[in-house]
Amino acid sequence: MTLATPLLRNFYKEAKLLEIKDFLAIMKRVQSTIKMVNIKENRMLATEIKCDIKDINLAEQGKNQIDWAFKDMPVLKTIRERFIKEQPFKGLKLSACVHVTKETAALCTVMQAGGADAVLVASNPLSTQDDVAAALVKYYNIPVFAVSGETVEQYRSHIEEAINHNPDIIIDDGCDMVSTIHAQRPDLIGKIIGSTEETTTGIIRLQAMEADGSLGFPAVGVNTSLTKHLYDNRYGTGQSAFDGVLRAANILIAGKTVVVSGYGWCGKGVALRAKALGANVIVCEVDPLKALEAAMEGYRVMPIAKAALEGDVFLTVTGDKHVIDVQHILTMKDGAFVGNVGHFDWEVNVGDLKAHTKEIKQIRPALEEYVLDNGKSVYVIAEGRLVNLVAAEGHPASVMDMSFANQALGIEFLVKNHGKLENKLYTLPYEVDVKIAELKLQSMGIEIDSLTAEQEEYLNSWKLD
Ligand SMILES: NC(=O)c1ccc[n+]([C@@H]2O[C@H](COP(=O)([O-])OP(=O)(O)OC[C@H]3O[C@@H](n4cnc5c(N)ncnc54)[C@H](O)[C@@H]3O)[C@@H](O)[C@H]2O)c1
Repeated sequence: MTLATPLLRNFYKEAKLLEIKDFLAIMKRVQSTIKMVNIKENRMLATEIKCDIKDINLAEQGKNQIDWAFKDMPVLKTIRERFIKEQPFKGLKLSACVHVTKETAALCTVMQAGGADAVLVASNPLSTQDDVAAALVKYYNIPVFAVSGETVEQYRSHIEEAINHNPDIIIDDGCDMVSTIHAQRPDLIGKIIGSTEETTTGIIRLQAMEADGSLGFPAVGVNTSLTKHLYDNRYGTGQSAFDGVLRAANILIAGKTVVVSGYGWCGKGVALRAKALGANVIVCEVDPLKALEAAMEGYRVMPIAKAALEGDVFLTVTGDKHVIDVQHILTMKDGAFVGNVGHFDWEVNVGDLKAHTKEIKQIRPALEEYVLDNGKSVYVIAEGRLVNLVAAEGHPASVMDMSFANQALGIEFLVKNHGKLENKLYTLPYEVDVKIAELKLQSMGIEIDSLTAEQEEYLNSWKLD
């Protein structure tokens, strides 16, 4: 506070001459400056950066995490080498709204290496890795506005900080930043080159904006790339969802009945891993084709109202709302576990469950016991927020390598084609998917066959006589 005092005095002096609204704006600046000064008092910050992070003293641990992630991200490293030479984002401001993890940190540093002036905020209030946030500030001079456990108000104010960065390019995960800009800062739309979107739920929102003609700039749906959803959604989510469940509850999965709601790309992965851990798996779906696929895969398929009576562990992964509703939870076995892997926290209707609950006990860091009015208890994992990011660390770096290669190349695609694209949702060309898969295979030491000239001719030259 000692160092902050002269600054405060200056601000107060300035404030005397101002209207009340300007005074309030200045006070807002004072608050962030105090944060900077407090950080400086910890003697950990190389340069003064406006940021909102938990503790700069975690930076060294965070740097180790980022370096660790990079070891398993060979495709992104290859892209970084090229970006360093070509500087595709020189002079451009980037605002990223993604889960603040060691892997997204690696992506931000790659964008910075390509010349972008980057700012990072969280795409979920609970998923921030505070050590990684500190490392980005201290070692990379990237302003981060993200604190694990931040309130919804803080979360929104952090998104505003990223918007005030006045971005040319945006990386989004769930479409919160893009939708906030369209709703609250339409003045920025004309300047924005475009955005990339990481997840299925964000793509659904962008598709709706494109359909009603409100999308103000081009966007690349990274999730639509094959090297994203076939690997990240399936293998990444499958493994990390159970990483989250086990860290939260440390229960044995073998022999339990695990109910997976949603058999899309993520759901297939979650069901596969549950089966591999020895669970009896029940799948709930609304799409007959997906339901049939699950049945052919050997899972039991039934509506959630029936599955609710049988399950020991419930995981939703649909992108939909109230998939497990209060009436389902009230019929579950005493001691059932309920969690969500989808992007938003309304897949399990935890909010309305509170009206049927006598007491909520915090059992472990990401596990609450809801003691219900009907005498039973259910254990809610990670407050119904995406379990793999709140109770664990998200997907392993190896799979995010491909997703974030798509992010980096998606932004490059938007910048290279600036002025030529419509305000639509684009998918990266198939050749980009093939290139990423080739690089990944190389890094795994896997060789594959290629077509002989004879085979190529045979496959391409058949004609009806
Ligand atoms: N936790 C993570 O790390 C992570 C990673 C990728 C995607 N996601 C999120 O997971 C969610 C699912 O993504 P996806 O790629 O699997 O989507 P998807 O579209 O491939 O699959 C969703 C499935 O849910 C089904 N569904 C919808 N409403 C349902 C209901 N009421 N009951 C049962 N099934 C229902 C759909 O028919 C579909 O088959 C999205 O919110 C996405 O953003 C999370």
